[in-house]
Amino acid sequence: MIRRMVTNPMPQFPAGFLWGVSTSAHQIEGAADAREPSVWDVFTAEPGRVKDGSTAAVACDSYHRYPEDVALLAGLGVDAYRFSVSWPRVDSPGGLDFYDSLVDALCAAGVRPVVTLFHWDLPVALDWLERDTASRFADHVSVVAERLGDRVAKWITLNEPAEHTLLGHALGVHAPGRRLMFDALPVAHHQLLAHGLAVRALRAAGAGDIGIANSHGPTWAASEKPEDRQAAEFYDLLLNRLFSDPLLIGRYPEGIGELMPGDVEADLKVIAEPIDWYGINYYAPTRVGAPQGAEIEFGGLSLPAELPFTVREIEDRPVTDFGWPVVPEALTELLTGFAERYGDRLPPVLITENGCSYEGVDDQERIAYLDGHIRALHRAVEAGVDVRGYFVWSLLDNFEWAEGYARRFGLVHTDFETLERTPKASYAWLRDLLRAQR
Ligand code: FCB
Repeated sequence: MIRRMVTNPMPQFPAGFLWGVSTSAHQIEGAADAREPSVWDVFTAEPGRVKDGSTAAVACDSYHRYPEDVALLAGLGVDAYRFSVSWPRVDSPGGLDFYDSLVDALCAAGVRPVVTLFHWDLPVALDWLERDTASRFADHVSVVAERLGDRVAKWITLNEPAEHTLLGHALGVHAPGRRLMFDALPVAHHQLLAHGLAVRALRAAGAGDIGIANSHGPTWAASEKPEDRQAAEFYDLLLNRLFSDPLLIGRYPEGIGELMPGDVEADLKVIAEPIDWYGINYYAPTRVGAPQGAEIEFGGLSLPAELPFTVREIEDRPVTDFGWPVVPEALTELLTGFAERYGDRLPPVLITENGCSYEGVDDQERIAYLDGHIRALHRAVEAGVDVRGYFVWSLLDNFEWAEGYARRFGLVHTDFETLERTPKASYAWLRDLLRAQR
């Protein structure tokens, strides 16, 4: 008997919908010897910080191999490529020349450059606990905008300030490796302030089309019990609303503003500087319940027992190699929830990251993941959410932070010995999907 897979055709997205893929500097560039160090170089050099003991000194060597990567982007047929500029590289002699050549190569290949101005690789001399880092960031942004502004299609100020605060400064599992717990809150405030100052710096340099890439996901209470609902509410406040409320409605969720440093009211005016679109990185929802008094393992993390919530398993769902549950419909829920909460204050949305880690080049699980999530996204569009684009994380297998090279998120396989790139089944699948969308 011949078994045939019957799949419904992918529905059409609105004309002008922007399809892209994302990467970040520290995760793909390598050539660490050609720039000043970042907090990630220091962190990875410390024994035990990265699971496989690796560093990103070479990574995918995209610094040298970018023409090959641009050819892969062109072959894929994406409209846009989201990459980040490394702040320490921009500060190093010749650093901006590299981005200048990359941007030229993208434009020549008909791929629009979407630039993230900070994706976690802070210069070692700087510290987000210091307010001054926000103005230093605005200076960095002006320098980059000055040089690349004539060709960049869209600007992203920051990538996931929530993760950078939580993982890097509260739990200490990412660089700079601090374990400050709730004393890490100023790091969130200073990044948000940096975002607002960066928006102003970009506009002053004549650049438009500005957004941010914030990570968001629905929070599901473990049960209807008041203690579980309360814990879930708190988690949602900390990981979602703390970062979207100030940007979109110019205030912190109740009880948070008092914990922030400086003249918070004045800063909020800067933070809420209007943006042209709002970027969301979505991977999975989180089920949250009341604290259980013991350290728990979650998605590769050990969460301390003293937190006022615990993250619980989402049962009956497939999980990726990272252990993240695969729940496409939560993307629809997230977007319709956002539209409801923020109404007119929500600018058009772009999904700036979505993807999964799986082994293998015949990556049928990744195809299933992306297919499910793109359909879920379409349902949000049908429900009236103004979504204008979708970026897959990631073009290439790369250095996945504290996981090292153990997690493969790429549409293209990277051999980390030879640096050879091999497109996976998902690359061909996405290429065909994009052709059918045109
Ligand atoms: C996001 C990060 C990105 C990548 C993916 C898997 O949180 O922004 O750099 O590591 O997760």
